[in-house]
Amino acid sequence: MTDLLLLPGDGIGPEVTAQARRVAEAVAPDLSIAEALFGGCSFDAHGTPLTDEVLAAAKAARAVLMGAVGGGGGQWAGAPRDKRPEAGLLNLRAGMEVYANLRPALCFPALADASTLKRHLVEGLDLMIVRELTGGIYFGSPRFIEDLPGGGRRAVDTQVYTTAEIERVARVAFQLARGRRNLVHSAEKSNVMDSGLLWRQVVTDLHAREFPDVRLEHILADNAAMQIVRDPRQFDVLVTDNLFGDILADAAAMLTGSLGMLPSAALGDAGRPGLYEPIHGSAPDIAGQGVANPLASILSLEMAFRWSLGRPEAADRILAAVIRALDNGARTRDLGGALTTVQMGDAVLAAL
Ligand code: IPM
Ligand code: MG
Repeated sequence: MTDLLLLPGDGIGPEVTAQARRVAEAVAPDLSIAEALFGGCSFDAHGTPLTDEVLAAAKAARAVLMGAVGGGGGQWAGAPRDKRPEAGLLNLRAGMEVYANLRPALCFPALADASTLKRHLVEGLDLMIVRELTGGIYFGSPRFIEDLPGGGRRAVDTQVYTTAEIERVARVAFQLARGRRNLVHSAEKSNVMDSGLLWRQVVTDLHAREFPDVRLEHILADNAAMQIVRDPRQFDVLVTDNLFGDILADAAAMLTGSLGMLPSAALGDAGRPGLYEPIHGSAPDIAGQGVANPLASILSLEMAFRWSLGRPEAADRILAAVIRALDNGARTRDLGGALTTVQMGDAVLAAL
């Protein structure tokens, strides 16, 4: 049985995942690791970004570490929409049924000055975004673009949520908060969207029924975006839908110094394999140059050890090594330094 399936993917994905693999082999030499094609490279080889074999392997592994997919709108842009690398990622998330996407934004002390926000606003930041990952406008139907009789075209996407979908992701957020600072913000647009209205009602009911001990605040998603850059440390756990979560997580990432720092864990029901991915994309502008920051991938591996592989001590070691490497001044280009991807991997391994 495979413990860890690596799906390096496209762009900088293979470069950063290779460093996470070195770290995995160092902290857990007994781990069984497999690797497979996924994303644009799988499309080139097999005509589809996610083959049935790879989806089956992902569901059978204990954890999956993904690198990045896609070519930033350039490469593979001509592929049919359901064969694009990004479609493969959505199918992987849906196929693995990983509906709760944990995106922690931690400001490491050594990086407080790398943030575009002032040090006093981000120092000590520890925010957990819980993004719904298998529903909402990413998956809703109908969706299409049609030609209009009088000229011009019309595009439709559908935002749709059920009670069960909202409840299960909100439950994850409340449970996480209990182990943290006991505060959940739930972000939606209940002032304009019916799905937002239902979201607010379901979260309110679940809170009253199962989590009255946790503090709950409702916040409109646009206000949440503003508060994240105004005073990010007011948040503990922020739960929100798929699209708002995508956007708010990128904003939160910059608080930590670089998009290259943010890992994520996508979890389903207990006992199911988790999907781990850096939140940065394939970064085609720097792909192949060996300068990408591998820390988001290495920290995603850290989350895999913690949440799926049942090895919290290995996770603690990785986290401590990343902090030590940063304290020692290790910086890739995105962090204002000059280390290559491999050199950053070396720095973490040395700190281990
Ligand atoms: C992310 C990415 C993906 C998303 C893309 C690559 C499909 O932006 O994981 O945040 O939108 O979910
Ligand atoms: Mg995104």
